[in-house]
Amino acid sequence: MGEDTGQDHRADTGDYRALHALSLQDPETFWLDAARTLDWDTPPERALDDTQAPFFRWFPGGRLNVCANAVDRHVAAGRGDQVAVVHDSPVTGTQRSITYADLLDQVSRFAGVLRGLGVERGDRVVIYLPMIPEAVVAMLACARLGAIHSVVFGGFAPRELALRIDDATPKVIVTASCGIEVSRVLPYVPMVREAIALAGHTPDATVVLQRPQSPAELTGAEHDWEQAMTGATPADPVPVASSDPLYILYTSGTTGKPKGVVRDSGGYATALAWTMRGIYDVGVGQTMFTASDVGWVVGHSYCVYAPLLAGATTVIYEGKPVGTPDAGQFWRVVAEHRVRTMFTAPTAFRAIKKDDPSGALAGRYDLSSLRYLFLAGERLDPETHRWATELLDIPVIDNWWQTETGWPIAADPAGVGLLPIKPGSPTLPMPGWDIQVLDGQGGRVPAGEDGAIVAKLPLPPGALLTVWQDDERFVRSYLSAFDGYYLSGDGGHLDEDGYVFVMGRTDDVINVAGHRLSTGGMEEVLASHPDVAECAVIGVSDALKGQVPRGFVVLKSSVDTSEPGYEQRLQAELVQLVRDRIGAVAALREVLVVPGLPKTRSGKILRRTMRGIADGADEPVPSTIDDVSVLETLRPMLRQ
Ligand code: COA
Ligand code: AMP
Repeated sequence: MGEDTGQDHRADTGDYRALHALSLQDPETFWLDAARTLDWDTPPERALDDTQAPFFRWFPGGRLNVCANAVDRHVAAGRGDQVAVVHDSPVTGTQRSITYADLLDQVSRFAGVLRGLGVERGDRVVIYLPMIPEAVVAMLACARLGAIHSVVFGGFAPRELALRIDDATPKVIVTASCGIEVSRVLPYVPMVREAIALAGHTPDATVVLQRPQSPAELTGAEHDWEQAMTGATPADPVPVASSDPLYILYTSGTTGKPKGVVRDSGGYATALAWTMRGIYDVGVGQTMFTASDVGWVVGHSYCVYAPLLAGATTVIYEGKPVGTPDAGQFWRVVAEHRVRTMFTAPTAFRAIKKDDPSGALAGRYDLSSLRYLFLAGERLDPETHRWATELLDIPVIDNWWQTETGWPIAADPAGVGLLPIKPGSPTLPMPGWDIQVLDGQGGRVPAGEDGAIVAKLPLPPGALLTVWQDDERFVRSYLSAFDGYYLSGDGGHLDEDGYVFVMGRTDDVINVAGHRLSTGGMEEVLASHPDVAECAVIGVSDALKGQVPRGFVVLKSSVDTSEPGYEQRLQAELVQLVRDRIGAVAALREVLVVPGLPKTRSGKILRRTMRGIADGADEPVPSTIDDVSVLETLRPMLRQ
């Protein structure tokens, strides 16, 4: 299983820079060529439709089904017996392999189940599932019908799920009876019920996969997955327009209301298929192990769609890098499933390094199949890069992207040919990405100088189409800062060789253990506490998680703080409030009561200055500050 077939699936040029130049100068040729690697019901004759700019669409007139490309096509080509999905679950002590033929059977029947519940092309389905193969089946079944899935990460609380239910208005929710975290079994059904009760929109039905670790008693419109599958009529793939939405994936913006990133079908499938050849160097019969979660974009693209579009084997890993039960699990997975390309977040490697500093556990396994380690989701610090490179003795490749982009903006294209690695940089822009760095006035900054990282429009295939049902927010959030450019929200620079250096977000988004969170969202929760007058949440550097949130609250003058233990009780309440409203994943553990927050004369809280001081930088006092004494009082607390 998963052995190399020797088939040459690489992009057919050794000169990456020429390839990139072609993608910008002649996108029609570049992307139509890439699109030909897919099966289309109606092949596109043109690549780009720019008639509705800045709402660009890829492959106008083209019709296809993404599920058919990810599943049926491989069975039709005689590879039905090849393993498509391996479920490796140290938290349940089980492993399961699903061939492409099995996957086709399950996906067609589950598509039949959804259709039986009224789901048709264009309808939404919310998926709230742990890392189990049924998550893959549910996503593909939606794609098969031309329905739009929206997967919600299991670490989000019912209120966050409710926000997404109200925005996506799904006909059906698909969930499991439970998820399994390191030290606890998490019943999902009560969370889904609570979310439905909180939401204004009520889905017609919920489908529940029963898991033996904690089965749920089902009532009313809740259907048992297995029973529903037994009588289901398999559904054939429904051809859809290339620009039809494949999914909505919510991501944190600067406010508590998440943004529903809308992904198309043909552009995304084309781009992902190219990346498997050009970047990740994985083809038919080879195995990719992406240790992420289907609730994040990395999981959508590289646990599910891209490996299956490539006819590869994907490993769905239900566990953690450490503690389930040890820091050797990634190596075990690589050895047992003969993984060629592995992909995870740097924080996972920092966790492994913390538990097993010498990497001794890696020595117990045969890692000879492993060719590349790709890391993304947050900045790859040079020390983690060095440690992983020395341990594995293979290329360790940083790649930079976002939920919005769907695939890497910058990477080292292993499939085309590796470029020299510069630690601290995710290397060069990938095809179709015209990356520039601008100053506040929209002028290009010289090489080596930091500014706002932007991408010249049009964005390549696979990048977001819009924000779900909110074109205005799409334009306001991403396209209005600089005319003709997409604002990435990241700051950084290009060096003299064009290498991209991403230094961090320029907005109120933070990255905690590779999870993208909104400090604005946490502030909204803290501010809802009756004792809090105002507050600020900033992300501060953390050796393991990259960043962690830290909250600062100013109390209302009417609050009686003389009661013994008041402050500790308030802090615990605030931490719990964020956990209850946003979810465990928010990981806000520290909240300080402070006498005041530093502000500009126009009343804006100086979060960036606070963050700089907390990170130990020699932060200058901004000239716009209203009352410098407030900042000086806070300084020692920030440095704690
Ligand atoms: N469902 C429910 N709860 C979840 C969850 C999920 N899918 N994922 C995380 N949580 C919970 C955790 O149990 C934890 O709860 P606790 O506070 O009760 O312990 C909380 O959310 C915080 O989780 P996390 O930030 O992941 O911290 P951790 O200490 O459990 O683990 C790492 C730290 C580094 C091991 C872990 O974050 C990790 O594996 N990261 C890899 C990065 C990754 O997958 N990124 C995705 C994008 S590529
Ligand atoms: P998400 O949308 O969850 O994928 O998070 C995207 C954000 O994560 C980006 O805007 C960056 O801030 C950060 N990020 C992702 N990958 C990298 C990387 N390789 N280097 C630096 N930052 C990264």
